[in-house]
Amino acid sequence: MKIHGKPYRSVWWDPQAGGLWAINQLSLPFRFETVLIASHAQACQAIRSMLVRGAPLIGVTAAYGLALALREDASDPALARAAQDLLATRPTAVNLRYAVEALLGPLRALAPAQRGRAALELAGQLADEDAALCEAIGRQGLPLLEAAWARRGRQGAVQVLTHCNAGWLATVDWGTALAPIYAAHEQGLPVHVWVDETRPRNQGALLTALELGWQGVPHTVIADNAGGHLMQRAQVDLCLVGADRVSPRGDTANKIGTYLKALAAFDNGVDFLVALPTPSIDWQLQDGVQAFPIEERDGAEVLQVQGLDGDGSVRSVRVAAPGSPAANPAFDVTPARLVSAFITEHGVFAPADLHRLQAACPAD
Ligand code: MRU
Repeated sequence: MKIHGKPYRSVWWDPQAGGLWAINQLSLPFRFETVLIASHAQACQAIRSMLVRGAPLIGVTAAYGLALALREDASDPALARAAQDLLATRPTAVNLRYAVEALLGPLRALAPAQRGRAALELAGQLADEDAALCEAIGRQGLPLLEAAWARRGRQGAVQVLTHCNAGWLATVDWGTALAPIYAAHEQGLPVHVWVDETRPRNQGALLTALELGWQGVPHTVIADNAGGHLMQRAQVDLCLVGADRVSPRGDTANKIGTYLKALAAFDNGVDFLVALPTPSIDWQLQDGVQAFPIEERDGAEVLQVQGLDGDGSVRSVRVAAPGSPAANPAFDVTPARLVSAFITEHGVFAPADLHRLQAACPAD
């Protein structure tokens, strides 16, 4: 996607610098900065600290992290250790496992001396694959927005509510939930996006709003608790979110708060759509509600809020009573029965049909 007319991906390999450039998502939207990830340890830290984030982007960064590890030591034990370290960085997005396994199989079959170069090629292929899958999600999802526009009698703008950031910053390019919105915007279809702020880390207010602004898509940031009210007043045509892990029966892990939006959508007869590339499907777990690993993050993220001060500096302030502790589950699972449809690179699927995609996916 473009920032002020210049095309960007969220990460890109630089052969001269021998590392992976990443847009530093910890400094957005207040400062645009790129960071060179030049070692396996830096790749792990970038994922853990959320300098890079979003399920598909975590996976691609991990692939490059594995390639960087092999520069230091390409032996079998080092390869296994590097993969384990990457897998331990963040537990919920299954794209991390997908990417690490996509490299491990072919690399194990090679002699150590050949692994470094092969790993870089495979990581590059994964990055290109992610961009292509997300672009395809945009194409596949566009008819749903066109249908919503027709239902409105082609009046006003299609009103979409989204949660967290499932845009191009969360992927290599295009995004998942935002890809159909970008496709619609490019076609001249009027879309307005309600952007959930997405406490505690505010990925909606900070990143989704920034992305939509860069592309000129009309949007409004709302408090996380406003969505139900807007749905009751018929101000939302559809909810469109991304996913960090989806089970074959359609249970969907996404940023904490997604489940409550799905409940409100169900109660108000609003379509609740999940956009995902097939690497976000965990073919090993059916019951996502009980079995998906949910990341528990530092309570400080709940107790504090970061923002821009009047003097231009970025500061954290405490927003809870002194001494109170906080719990911080970072994801929740929306049961399949609350999902109207899944938008994938292969087309739009009802939850009951999602399992059919397994034939199109590499064995897991
Ligand atoms: O904790 P984050 O910011 O990595 O969480 C990201 C999300 O929950 C996104 O909605 C998800 O990865 C969507 S995939 C583009």
